[in-house]
Amino acid sequence: MCGIGACLSLLGLNVAPKVLKMIKNLEYRGYDSAGLAMITPDGIIDVRKDKGKIADLEIKLRFSEMKGFIGIGHTRWATHGAVSKRNAHPHVDCSRCIAVVHNGIIENYIELRKELEAKGHIFTTETDTEVIPHLIEENLKHHDNFFNAFEESIKQLKGAYALAVITLKDPSKIFFARFFSPLVIGIGECEYYIASDIPAFLEWTRKVIILHDGDIGFVSKEGVIIKNIFDNTIVNRDVITVEWTKEMAEKGGFDHFMLKEIYEQPVGVKRTVMMTEKQMQGVLEILENANDIYLVAAGTSFYASLHGQYAFSVYGFKSRAIIASEFIEEVGSFIDEDDVIIGVSQSGETADTLKALRHGKDKGARILAVTNVVGSAITRLADKVIIMGAGPEIGVAATKTFTSQVAVLNYILLEWAKEHGYDVELLLDKLRNRVPEDMEATIRETDEAAKQLVEMIHKKGNAYYLGRGLGLPIALEGALKMKEIAYLHAEGYPAGESKHGPIALVEPGFPIIAVVLKDAVYDKMHIAIEEMKSRGGYIISVCEKSDDKTKKLSNFYFDVPTGYSNILAPLVYIIPLQLLAYRTAVKRGCDPDKPRNLAKSVTVE
Ligand code: AGP
Ligand code: GLU
Repeated sequence: MCGIGACLSLLGLNVAPKVLKMIKNLEYRGYDSAGLAMITPDGIIDVRKDKGKIADLEIKLRFSEMKGFIGIGHTRWATHGAVSKRNAHPHVDCSRCIAVVHNGIIENYIELRKELEAKGHIFTTETDTEVIPHLIEENLKHHDNFFNAFEESIKQLKGAYALAVITLKDPSKIFFARFFSPLVIGIGECEYYIASDIPAFLEWTRKVIILHDGDIGFVSKEGVIIKNIFDNTIVNRDVITVEWTKEMAEKGGFDHFMLKEIYEQPVGVKRTVMMTEKQMQGVLEILENANDIYLVAAGTSFYASLHGQYAFSVYGFKSRAIIASEFIEEVGSFIDEDDVIIGVSQSGETADTLKALRHGKDKGARILAVTNVVGSAITRLADKVIIMGAGPEIGVAATKTFTSQVAVLNYILLEWAKEHGYDVELLLDKLRNRVPEDMEATIRETDEAAKQLVEMIHKKGNAYYLGRGLGLPIALEGALKMKEIAYLHAEGYPAGESKHGPIALVEPGFPIIAVVLKDAVYDKMHIAIEEMKSRGGYIISVCEKSDDKTKKLSNFYFDVPTGYSNILAPLVYIIPLQLLAYRTAVKRGCDPDKPRNLAKSVTVE
């Protein structure tokens, strides 16, 4: 949703450059406006903010001139209040003694604003966030200690928030609070960092505290003080050492994070399989005792879940993938304690998915979470968690987390199938060993082909992505990639259904991407291809190297290693479609890492 960055130097060093670098490292979380606030050596709060990207604001607002050993920063993805200078964060109180940056939504901000305005507070923005500094200012009237006023204010907020706050009332502390929106603390060399996500400060430390919902507190010379407002007690949160090195979170020589992350997939899948093996304790038991099994997710994670449904059904394992925002209306009324819900979310913070899971949990269902982020909200909702090993995914478009999610679901399925008498050793061995190297080869070979195809497809306005059975989730995900980063209207569609209407759009040169597995629906895919071809469709197939018949039908093809016309298919078939979307975006002058209107983690419903 947005990026919060805050830094305190225990040696009194100027931290403005670090606060700026922290929000730059987090720009992928939202970037319509940005700002910094520093407590300056002469004892005022210097706030500089505006709409636009940080690189432009850096010059315009002269962030480099800012001074102070304590400061906060924010890069915004607006939810309440237009994208504007005054709605950019940080926000301050009437006396400009308190500055706040916020990620999330204050659901009761209208009532709070009315109460505060009635008490004389002057508001200058349309945001929900601005109620926070004024609320603290109001509560300070009956508290002589800033933290107590801060705590009382937090308890009056409803909704989602991750906050970092500085104040002239207590100018050597950064106060924080976390509920629903992510917030982590980095423990540096005589410095503390507070941020929305770990990559913000990874270049300075790998020691991290993951805050939990209800945690409030401050960092200061006294250290990290955390109180949980639900338990009303001081708590000790573990300091974990994240294995992500700085390089993992940097671009590593690629033009964009997205391309780096596509190329990282073989390592991500290998690490994920290794990690999943170690996290299976209790997973099969949960599934074994389930009456109904649902997979719930949004966006790309939904397509990974849909793959899970199709893959599970290959082995007679009944499940149902449901779009998170439809879950309650679709099945909410008949979820009960006999059911299991697998929540799939790379960020672990997607509001739609969390809401669906909370609904299921309230009905007594068991929750299994599959996520990429340690300590994310979904992990605290779940009865059982599987952390993927994809590593930080900075690009807004999900790529390596998709294949890692598929790897987790496939691994769980194969272990379940083994328990039920299926001979799946070959597939398990392939998933552990051959898949990473086959993915490597597929990336290298199909990237070259994608660069050629882009010359034609970047000029197109529409495309169909057709798949059937196990090929359908791949087609749907491939189309989403092309939509979200190249802004080309690509529609994923069940191949068998495309003759029931969509084919009306097909005219000479209309791109048809066909995901063709050599499986039970192979011939039916060819029928769909022929139907499109006879209307002049330009056929682009993704098929196995040995599939000469499909290649002959195609105007262009990407080939993937033989032996993937099974539940492992997405791990190689999706790669050319990811690369095609990436290359098309670059050809069209789009920014693949920061596509317009999108954010990496959608933490609002
Ligand atoms: C995928 O490229 C998009 N970034 C988006 O659809 C994403 O998959 C969706 O918002 C779900 O995110 P999650 O996996 O973090 O829950
Ligand atoms: N709701 C706040 C706003 O619209 C915060 C949005 C965000 O999380 O970036 O400014």
